[in-house]
Amino acid sequence: MGSPTTRLRRLRRNPTLRRMVRETYLRADDLIMPLFVRGGSRVRKEIPSMPGQYQFSCDTLVEEAKSVEAAGVPAIILFGIPDEKDAVGSQAYASDAVVCRAVEAVKKACPALCVVTDVCLCEYTDHGHCGIIKPNRDGNPDVDNDSTVEVLVKEALAHARAGADVVAPSDMMDGRVGAIRKALDATGLPDVAIMAYSAKFASGFYGPFRDAAESPPQFGDRSSYQMDHPNVREAMREIELDLEEGADIVMVKPAIAYLDVIRQASERFDAPVAAYNVSGEYAMIKAAAARGWLDEKRIVLEVLTAIRRAGAKLILTYWAKDAARWLT
Ligand code: PBG
Repeated sequence: MGSPTTRLRRLRRNPTLRRMVRETYLRADDLIMPLFVRGGSRVRKEIPSMPGQYQFSCDTLVEEAKSVEAAGVPAIILFGIPDEKDAVGSQAYASDAVVCRAVEAVKKACPALCVVTDVCLCEYTDHGHCGIIKPNRDGNPDVDNDSTVEVLVKEALAHARAGADVVAPSDMMDGRVGAIRKALDATGLPDVAIMAYSAKFASGFYGPFRDAAESPPQFGDRSSYQMDHPNVREAMREIELDLEEGADIVMVKPAIAYLDVIRQASERFDAPVAAYNVSGEYAMIKAAAARGWLDEKRIVLEVLTAIRRAGAKLILTYWAKDAARWLT
């Protein structure tokens, strides 16, 4: 019979048995590929801090969406970079907004590809914050919750009318999920789902994204609306509220440093939990791999499987296309 260690090792030594007793699977169907779209044509501009990721124009975005779909990835999430930014993010909800045109073009070329849109103002405001700025009680500029929610509703409706399958509010304002759900239902768009960035932490890991979306905050930071990173109970309250308001999928973000939050959320709630493997997590591994310090494919499959093992059903990751190819 051997010692207890040997008994366990028997299952590992035999490759077929090892495969049979695997507990967690990573599949291409679990993945969502983030893509950035801007104006112009034939644009494919690499993002310096995110090697292998690009800002696309609508035409090149459609080509990329086709190649993502061909790799077996079922969904993309789109981020728009407008030509012009202003204080109130008007380009977020214009019917000719770059994201709306991109959604229409992608849905026409790839009708079966699930198109998610990021609903937020930070890409569209000249100050780079996720909402409308008003003086707070101390007279300092701060993001105003309720006037921001009104604009987010307009933005979500514009994306849904353009054909988005899912809208994903990432702003962390209170009450936005309920307001968006109500507006979608009232507009005859009850089938459009909501993936809420519910537990979104104020994190240093978003640095490269702000290059990609050209959206660093021009003053202050996002700690008045994003969550304080040591808090997990508060994350559960955020998720619970979003579910009560009608979220279909809830998200934890970032992923790697928040696996415990993903685990608790997946044990506590029956809704699918998504995790966002964010830009900084991507950049770290890319940088180390470029120096030959890490084996990219091996590390990425290990990390993505760990996020699944923690309990995430879906993973938003810049490696979605590569990982889908590696998995086949
Ligand atoms: C906000 C948004 C951000 C990310 C996704 N949506 C930036 C932020 O909150 O500062 C970050 C994603 C990443 O880092 O990969 N619209």
